[in-house]
Amino acid sequence: MFITFEGIEGSGKSTQLRRLAERLPDAVITKEPGGTPLADRIRAILLDSSSHLDPIAELFLFAASRRQNVIEVIKPALAHGNVVLCDRFTDSTLAYQGFGRLINIDQLRTLNAWATDSLTPDLTLLFDLPEEIGLTRARSRNAGAAQDEGRFEAEELRFHRRVREGYRALAVAEPERFVVIDGDGEVDDVFARVVAEVQKRTELLR
Ligand code: TYD
Repeated sequence: MFITFEGIEGSGKSTQLRRLAERLPDAVITKEPGGTPLADRIRAILLDSSSHLDPIAELFLFAASRRQNVIEVIKPALAHGNVVLCDRFTDSTLAYQGFGRLINIDQLRTLNAWATDSLTPDLTLLFDLPEEIGLTRARSRNAGAAQDEGRFEAEELRFHRRVREGYRALAVAEPERFVVIDGDGEVDDVFARVVAEVQKRTELLR
């Protein structure tokens, strides 16, 4: 069972992933960009505000990071029978590089398929909330962080609005795979929504 967590900056998906992982002791947890030592080095380049990255170069770095994560972490864990919880995956590329940076979606789908050997999540939890709220949360968190990870937070509000709308469109197009969860609210309340949806859609947490 492969479950991915998606949403705009500050949507609370990483907090919810940790909460769900506490209830699934055998779950393997990973994230993108990152997830392996090499992919973590790519992550540092991608998120550093001083990186002047061309959008296509940026795309290839996300794809390279994803490939390492799929080959080294995700596929072996699934083959071993573990549940895998991944913080961002292919839908982030469609939402950010496609709807955000306006790169051709069909080309992105091809690149995603190539990077993952067409691995598709069984379930994708999309944490949805207004971009103004998400960005305020993300920027206050980033202000106290030890490492500069602010390159995407620095994008204008319009960019994040397109990303949010893109995610919602992806969810509408694939209702069997996506669950949209209202991310606006207290952590416990949002987690109750997560548990209810996971129980409804899978055999987990029963
Ligand atoms: P991260 O620190 O994981 O952000 P968050 O805590 O909001 O999840 O940073 C990942 C950033 O990279 C985030 O702004 C989204 C962006 N991203 C893409 O643009 N494309 C991708 O394919 C992925 C995986 C992430």
